[in-house]
Amino acid sequence: MQKGNILIKGASEVVTCSGSHAKFGKEMADLNVIHDGSVVIRDGVIEAVGKTEDIIKKYNEKDFQVIDATGKAVLPGFVDSHTHLVFGGYRAEEFSWRLRGDNYMEIMERGGGILSSVKATKAATKAELYYAAMRRLDSMLSFGVTTVEGKSGYGLDLDTEIKQLEVMTEVDDNHPIDVVKTFLGAHAVPPEYKGKEDEFIDFMIEDVLPIVAEGQLATFCDIFCEKKVFSVDQSRRLLRKAQELGMKVKLHADEIIQLGGAELAAELGAVSADHLLQASDEGLKQMRDKGVVATLLPGTAFSLKENYARARYMIDNGNAVALATDLNPGSCFTESIPLIFALATLYMKMTTEEAITAFTINGAAALDMADTIGSLDVGKKGDVIILEFPSYHFIPYHIGVSTVEKVVKNGILVFD
Ligand code: NIG
Ligand code: FE
Repeated sequence: MQKGNILIKGASEVVTCSGSHAKFGKEMADLNVIHDGSVVIRDGVIEAVGKTEDIIKKYNEKDFQVIDATGKAVLPGFVDSHTHLVFGGYRAEEFSWRLRGDNYMEIMERGGGILSSVKATKAATKAELYYAAMRRLDSMLSFGVTTVEGKSGYGLDLDTEIKQLEVMTEVDDNHPIDVVKTFLGAHAVPPEYKGKEDEFIDFMIEDVLPIVAEGQLATFCDIFCEKKVFSVDQSRRLLRKAQELGMKVKLHADEIIQLGGAELAAELGAVSADHLLQASDEGLKQMRDKGVVATLLPGTAFSLKENYARARYMIDNGNAVALATDLNPGSCFTESIPLIFALATLYMKMTTEEAITAFTINGAAALDMADTIGSLDVGKKGDVIILEFPSYHFIPYHIGVSTVEKVVKNGILVFD
């Protein structure tokens, strides 16, 4: 990816979100805003952040592409740390079935749901998956996303899981957004393994995971730890093996039933546990003590008409909370960052500041990347968004509409 030199000058607010690790509890309210600020990016890396009057004394504008941000707020690019962005086919009819009262898990049990996307993803060519994923990334970029996590999990076999991960590498190479890859081979139980979940986990451990790990095809290993999918013991077995092979781990945990996924995330030292609608107080406490990021996905709760995760409780009790879209073809088909901001602030009782932290430095922490992205600090990647409005308060206030006017990635203006 190319790297550029840009001077973003005269912003009404530079919302730095400053930090190099997750923000816990009360720390999430601190955005560290510089009024009348500027940001200097050289060779794709942030070189200076400060008051405009100080910056313009030190730097020669001729050395940079200058963006006049007068009357605009500037923030770090958003980090969408949980998506399933590579998939074949769609499940629009399932959405309509759910409106008529069908249940998400029951649809899966009768062979639809995730399994229907598995069929379509197996049938899709790499080129089809590539172009569909590129379009989704374009949409994400328009919302100010500069780093996204993408999961496999619509193959449940060696070839298709690898096909998905290879497509992610290709889109990462060819799109301005950075794509962090997660192996989610244990996303559902394929029909041939129904009732033989332990054998499926053995297959993943013996035949798939080593190839993914050796080929460095993914940074993370994830699993759908849920009643009627994979148990806590099965999840522990797979994720421990992934850790032995040098991978980092995260979990779809305690989404529909309280199973102890949060406790398992703490036990394993997972980087994040995601969903957590039903997580226990004790599990959340253990996650806090172990520094596991709680990644909340309110778009999914909204789309499935579930109750929201207890964001307020988590933050008041000191957890580090991240927000993400969970973009996928079933439970939550949206790339919309504005939608998630609306749900987080209006329904989950998060403040605007906490929601911004959750989509920047804590999103980065959910990918174990808080030392390189997620804030406007010297030495970090030059990933910056410029709003069309003077203050970050406009982000949730302009309900459901993107306030992002420009996106800079590695010091290159990539969306305008
Ligand atoms: O995070 N919960 C499991 N996995 C996804 C849904 C995937 C799908 O329905 O295709 C989720 O919600
Ligand atoms: Fe998910």
